[in-house]
Formats: sequence, structure tokens, C-alpha cells
Amino acid sequence: MNVRIEPPKSKLPEVKTTIFSTIGVLARKYNATDLSQGFPNFEIDPDLIRLVNESMLSGYNQYAPMQGHMGLREIISEKIEKLHGALYQVDEEITITVGATQAIYTSIAAFVHPGDEVIILKPSYDSYEPSILANGGTPVPVQMSKGDYQVDWTELKEKISGKTRMMIINTPHNPSGRVFSKEEMLQLQEILRPTNIILISDEVYEHILFDNYEHQSASRFDDLVQRSFICASFGKTFHVTGWKIGYCAAPKALMTEFRKVHQFAVYSIHHPIQNALTTYLKRETNYLNLRKFYQDKRDLFLSALVGSKFKFTPTQGTYFQLLDYTNITSEDDDVLAERLIKEHQLASIPISSFNVDRRQDGVLRFCFAKKKETLLKAAEILCSLK
Ligand SMILES: Cc1ncc(COP(=O)(O)O)c(C=O)c1O
Repeated sequence: MNVRIEPPKSKLPEVKTTIFSTIGVLARKYNATDLSQGFPNFEIDPDLIRLVNESMLSGYNQYAPMQGHMGLREIISEKIEKLHGALYQVDEEITITVGATQAIYTSIAAFVHPGDEVIILKPSYDSYEPSILANGGTPVPVQMSKGDYQVDWTELKEKISGKTRMMIINTPHNPSGRVFSKEEMLQLQEILRPTNIILISDEVYEHILFDNYEHQSASRFDDLVQRSFICASFGKTFHVTGWKIGYCAAPKALMTEFRKVHQFAVYSIHHPIQNALTTYLKRETNYLNLRKFYQDKRDLFLSALVGSKFKFTPTQGTYFQLLDYTNITSEDDDVLAERLIKEHQLASIPISSFNVDRRQDGVLRFCFAKKKETLLKAAEILCSLK
């Protein structure tokens, strides 16, 4: 199409197609076994589908309230109180969103002014930086260490300036699978205590933790809870990433500003799904059993890798496993990821694109939210690499 106007200056000149799209296109072209993007390839609970159908048949087909279906907000508030001891007011402090991505974007849009700085921990989920930039902010990265992905708290503290408006954390962490400990959250709390910094706590993998790891929601900590947007995703928890539904919880003063943006960008979210989730969330096992469900998958995948040349530490949370390939090759991760697809029909995600200066960690990220046969096929390919 001929464009008759000169396109104005881009707000996001550096943003290109995401690594997920690039890898996804290649994976389809080469018919690869796909452990790249973070979504399940198994069926979801038929009960949930039935509940959505029933909601549609019983009339939940018009706009939901702007802040979200009342029943759903009530059950979310009860769930957070039970799991973390924080009491969020149903009317004023919880909003249903188009997945966690919108919750994060809207929190940023509500508070970041041109010139403000937002501290992010790298490697990080790829929506954070563009969301900050689109709102005139400056992302200030703090790179986690290679191998064990620890936060350098001294560096983090040094990066705080008079311009720091926000900070974003993510636990359990994508892509490393690291779970922040209570001590780390306390450390963060002490660093933030004397400041006015708002925290976005991306907790989309809140129910996917393994072994004895416990989720340390920011809502558990007396000072953090007062400055945090807790962002969650039903897509991740109920294997329905395509439904794009999640929520955000924050104290009234923060949520009031959030909703000013939310009501004009989105207004309200798919009503029948909200009604269905209200019933579905009443059965706690629907989310509390997720630990075992994914731990079985992690363990199956890792036990099938015994004898391969990959090195790994079992992931602590999320449905991602990093595999260290440095015993096999010294290639950059993006080169190896492409070669694995083309030569071995196996897709994974190179994580250097989420690091500062594309740091090479010698690892690839594999998503194990997959059927048993998919995981075993992937492991067989990985074991054949010498
Ligand atoms: C760390 C993290 N945050 C947020 C999201 C997005 O969640 P949603 O699909 O609910 O927008 C993802 C999805 O991969 C993620 O890994």
C-alpha cells in the first residue's frame, strides 16, 4: 500500500521481531520438535472449557465491569490472603487484565514519566524494556550473574538514583528458573524502604515451583506490599496462554492510577472466562497441584538427559530448564539454536538476547510444558549431540 504521509519518528526504533517469532517461524519451517516458546502442547482441563461454555450459555456475553468480574476479584483476594497473608480490597485493589503483560504495561504507563528510570534485572522477559521506552522511560539494567543468576545487590543499590521511578522483578524467574529466597526479598525490601520506588513483581509462575522451594510473593513483605503491583497470569496457571487473562493487585493509591489507564486502553476483559474462572478457582487443587504436575515433567525430561553431554542444575521454578552446552560446542547460543532446528529439528530459545550486551552464558532454554512424547523426543535428540 502506498503511504501518503511520512511515517513519524518511531517510539521504539530498536525493537525488532522477537526471538520467539524468529525461532517459531524456523521451527515450523523445519517441522522441529518445539521446546522454544513457553506454552503447553497438551489439552486443558475439560471442566474449564465446560465452565466457559456454560457462562456463555447463561448470558455472560456483555461487557464485564471495568475492574473485573466481582466474583473473580473476591476469590483472588481470598487466595492471596490465604497463601501470603495480604488482604487486598476487592473493590479497589484488584483488577483483571489481558494477561500479565498488560498488567505490567499498564503499571508502567500509569507511573513512568519521560526521563524516569526503571531498574530491571537481566535476563528478563522481553516486554519490560519496550513498555518502559514507549512511555518515555529509560530501562536501567542490572545483569544477574552467569551460571547461578544471582543478583548483585550492591550494583542494584548503586543504580538507584533520584530518577528511579520503578523496579521490576520476576520470581520464579524466566528464563533461569531461579526462585528468589525470603532473604533476597528482605534484602530488596531494605534497599527500597527509604525510597519512593514502585515495584512491579511479575509472579506469573507463582504456582510452578519444585522440590522445597516456596514462592516469596512481594505481597508477603510489610514494606514491599505497600509499593507493589503483583502481576499474575491465569494463562500460565491453567495452561491457557491463548486466553490472555491475568490480574494485578496493588494498594488503592497505586491501583486508582492504574485503572485510569486501564479503563481507556482496555476497559474490560472477556466476561464468560472471568465467570468460569470464578468457579474454577474455588477448587484449590486446580492450582496447588501444579507443582507436582510440572515437577514430574521436569524430572522426566532431566532423567532422559542423563548420559547426554549437557550440564544442568534442575530448575527451581517455572517450566523452563536451562541446559549448558559448553561441553559440546563453543558456538554462540543463537547460532547453535538455529543449527539445532535446521540440522536436528529441535527448537529452543537462545537467552543471550535477554542479557546485557547479548552476554553469552553457554546455555539454551527448553520449555518442558509439553507432552511426555514431545519431551522424550527432544531428549533423544539432545542425547545424540556429541
Ligand atoms: C516472566 C513472564 N512474565 C509475563 C509473561 C506474560 O504473561 P501473559 O501471557 O499472562 O501476558 C510471561 C510469558 O511468557 C513471562 O514469562
